[in-house]
Amino acid sequence: MIFQGNACGRVNLIGEHTDYNNGFVLPTSIPQETKCSLRLEDTGQIVFNSLHLEGRFTRTYALGSEDPQHQSSIEAITWALAQEGVSIPGATIQVNSSVPLGSGLSSSAAFSISVLRACIQAFKLDWNVEKIARIAQKLENDFLGAHVGILDPIACSLCSYGKALYLDTATLKYEEVMIPHSMALIVIHSGVTHANNALQGYNTRRQECEDACRKMHIDSLRAIDEPSSSLPSTLLKRVRHVVTENRRVHNAKKALESNDAVWLGKLFHESHTSLRDDYEVSVPEVDMLVALMEDQDGCFGARITGGGFGGSIVALVDQFQFDTASLDHILTCYTNKYDKKARILVSRNDQRLPENARFI
Ligand code: GLA
Repeated sequence: MIFQGNACGRVNLIGEHTDYNNGFVLPTSIPQETKCSLRLEDTGQIVFNSLHLEGRFTRTYALGSEDPQHQSSIEAITWALAQEGVSIPGATIQVNSSVPLGSGLSSSAAFSISVLRACIQAFKLDWNVEKIARIAQKLENDFLGAHVGILDPIACSLCSYGKALYLDTATLKYEEVMIPHSMALIVIHSGVTHANNALQGYNTRRQECEDACRKMHIDSLRAIDEPSSSLPSTLLKRVRHVVTENRRVHNAKKALESNDAVWLGKLFHESHTSLRDDYEVSVPEVDMLVALMEDQDGCFGARITGGGFGGSIVALVDQFQFDTASLDHILTCYTNKYDKKARILVSRNDQRLPENARFI
């Protein structure tokens, strides 16, 4: 018998690096997704096949031999299941994904959630969204060494087309907010993918936030509205980003609810500036894409999305006024400058989207 699970990729509209600070986030789904098929076998081993748009990959290993040094996402999952007391007799697992790797669109969590969902079917586990998300986060934190927050596994589990998920990462309470028909989103992957230094940079940012909390004698940056001016300058900048970004998430929700694209675009722009200058997680390639995008008629604002150090931008455009022909101009300027190919992942003209998608 074949068991199946799937999960969407996500684009975070705003609320970056706030999740591990008990803050707020506002993601929505993208059409790219990950699907898993699993067949149980009595072999004591995992035969894993990955069919990704970016390549094919096969791996076989004995259950119980999982090792963090292999940095293997599938090993991380069978390790996490063993930790939860789930005993797998052996399995063939196939994963098909169209979420680009290292693009800031949550390819890792989409992978974990799709495989965990297939396992839940196979082992008839009574796990809710939060439990699955916590396991997906734990395997990243404790096995793969990425000290990520809860944003991605929750977003890949709960996001849907046309709605933003306003999530309080401290309580996991959420609200769905409609994205008005007049607003469209464009996601462009810079082609700069996360590498090891991105993981290091990400973990360093998290550490810096924890150091700042210790110095200010608070449990999390959620507790404050302003950074303490006595912090060393680097920590002051990191805290300023988190504090102002949480505010921007609340305002972004209000902007969506009041159909105010100009306000939302301004918040995108401010978020990017803060991530570039205070949190220092952008790269010149991404800055260029943001600037090119913001120069186009009908674009309200653009920003880097996801963990940073490369990856994608998300832009807010007018559904009716933005001319998609200008995207060709952007890609050409970008390639001329950086000799790299950027890719439009989600645009107004994306034909693969269902009727009710707000990305078109
Ligand atoms: C990555 C992490 C998330 C979150 C974002 C930044 O996607 O997985 O937990 O911290 O970066 O907002």
